[in-house]
This record gives sequence, C-alpha cells and structure tokens, in this order.
Amino acid sequence: MSDACQDISQGHPLLEHVEVLGNERLAKGVGLVTLKAPRIAAAVEPGQFVHLRIAQGRDFILRRPFSIHRAEGDDVEILYQVLGRGTRELAGMGTGTAMDAVGPLGCGWRVADGVSHVLLVSGGLGAAPLGMLAERLAERGVAVTVAMGAPTDDRLVARELFEGVARRVEVTTDDGSAGMRGFVTLLTQELIAAGEFEQICACGPEPMQRIVAAQADAAGVPCQVSLERLMACGIGACLSCVVSTREGHKRACVDGPVFDAREVVWDASEVPPKH
Ligand SMILES: Cc1cc2nc3c(=O)[nH]c(=O)nc-3n(C[C@H](O)[C@H](O)[C@H](O)COP(=O)(O)OP(=O)(O)OC[C@H]3O[C@@H](n4cnc5c(N)ncnc54)[C@H](O)[C@@H]3O)c2cc1C
Ligand code: FES
Repeated sequence: MSDACQDISQGHPLLEHVEVLGNERLAKGVGLVTLKAPRIAAAVEPGQFVHLRIAQGRDFILRRPFSIHRAEGDDVEILYQVLGRGTRELAGMGTGTAMDAVGPLGCGWRVADGVSHVLLVSGGLGAAPLGMLAERLAERGVAVTVAMGAPTDDRLVARELFEGVARRVEVTTDDGSAGMRGFVTLLTQELIAAGEFEQICACGPEPMQRIVAAQADAAGVPCQVSLERLMACGIGACLSCVVSTREGHKRACVDGPVFDAREVVWDASEVPPKH
C-alpha cells in the first residue's frame, strides 16, 4: 500500500482492453460496474484510479478518471455517479461491452506498518476509493472504523462492504433516513476527539475533506485526503489537474489523488466536484 507512486514513476500504468461483466444500479444516478481487467486488477493499490475511454467519437476523446472501488481476481469494480455524457454512457453499458482503460494510475493511500486503528471517512461517492482500502487494512489486521455520510439512506453506497470488514461503521444522512441526521463531519468531530485513531483517510466533497483535515490536525492525527480534479492526460503531462500544496503545485494524477492533508493549501483549492 505504500509503493503506488514508485510504481507509476517506474512507468507501470497499463493499457488494457476491458470488458463489462455486470452493471448494477444502486440508487438514482449511481451504479456499480464490474470490469474484467486482469492486468490492472493484479497491479492496483487502494486509492489508485483508471482512465477509461468510454466510447468512440468526439465527446469521448478525453478519458474519464474513476477510482477503483474493489479488485478481486481478474475483476475490478467502479462506483459511479451519472453527471454528464461519459457517465451516462457508462450507466447504459451492458454485459460484454468492451472499452480500453489505462491504469492503475496515481498515488494511493499510504498506511504504514504498525498503524493499528484507522478511521475512514466517506462522503457520498467518496466511498469509491475507500472500499479496497477497508478490505486490505482488515486483511492486514488493522482495525477499521468507518464514518459515512450521504444525502439519504439509499445513497449510503458500500455500507455492506464496510460493515463486512470494519470494526465499527457509523452513519449520517442529511435527511435523517439512516443514522444521525446531519453531515458526517458532526460524527467525525466526536470520533476524532475520542483519540482512538492513528490515521484518518477521507474522501468526499472537498468542503467535507477540508473540515476533516482541520479536525485531524487539531487532534494531531495524520490525515490523508483524496482530491478530484478535472483531468485530461492522467499521466502528468498536461497540468490540468493542479493541486496547490505547501511545496508548490502538484498534479493530482501522478502526485495524488491522495495527499497528506497538511500538505494541501485549502484556500487555493479548486471548486469541489458536485458529488
Ligand atoms: C482521480 C479521480 C477519481 C474519480 N473517481 C470517481 C469515481 O470513483 N466515481 C465517479 O462517479 N466519479 C469519479 N470521478 C469523477 C469522474 O471522473 C467524473 O464525474 C467524470 O469524468 C464525468 O464525466 P462525464 O462525461 O459524465 O461528465 P462531463 O460531461 O465531462 O462533465 C459533467 C460535469 O462533471 C464535472 N466533472 C467532469 N470531470 C470531473 C472530475 N474529474 N472531477 C469532478 N467533476 C468532474 C464537470 O465539471 C461537469 O460539471 C473521479 C475523478 C478523479 C479525478
Ligand atoms: S491530468 Fe494531465 S497532468 Fe494530470
């Protein structure tokens, strides 16, 4: 889980022809697609992403980046939210559809040996890059607590996966249809202050990640965040995915998408994505 960046710098991302094995609707506008992608599945580390050429034609010249939610055997799973043409096309893909994918890309989560209890914080589709992390940590014997928030009960995607591997899963919804009513940051305020965690890994809307980063900083707990940026090349060449950090501008596609939260200059960060 610690050498993902090193792999990228050694030029390991693969171009693979992948095939849709299943495409399940989870909630309105949210789906889970399973792809047969043996080479990417074998190489991926939690927090990395694939760049999909969703279809042919002018609208699809640019690949779309998606976190790998899980990898098992020859298959990878992607959780997606329908936003525009690419994700609409993805939602309509049936079994057997072929695409090509570049990956695994980027620098994922880094949890050092010896860390014994990690808090994962997921806001909405922020669960996407945290699924495999929860599984891998549990396999390593690391205790995992998950705090997850979503607008409504049906949007608590990946709740079953987390409940299957985590020591504890706490839930909030904006409308109170499951768990505590309110934002997940209400929950993390209490959980982090209780002082049980040696590390926090957060993904979700950028304002949420920013608050979690501040809570972690106040408690002196190391925190990593996964940041989304508009991406073009996905391999570090075009500079369209810049993140402002204390060490200057970094590229989300190769230096991230996972960053040390203390490194991020939040005031300069871009407008957050809509999910
Ligand atoms: C590293 C990374 C991992 C991601 N993982 C996931 C994931 O696991 N599941 C998922 O559903 N989405 C994920 N995204 C966002 C996903 O790439 C975009 O939602 C997708 O590219 C939109 O394509 P589209 O053709 O449907 O939308 P477009 O028609 O291209 O755009 C529709 C709207 O989405 C916004 N948008 C487009 N690209 C992005 C982007 N990269 N980030 C934020 N907003 C964007 C546009 O500004 C516009 O408002 C990830 C993005 C990054 C950078
Ligand atoms: S997307 Fe081109 S440099 Fe990151």
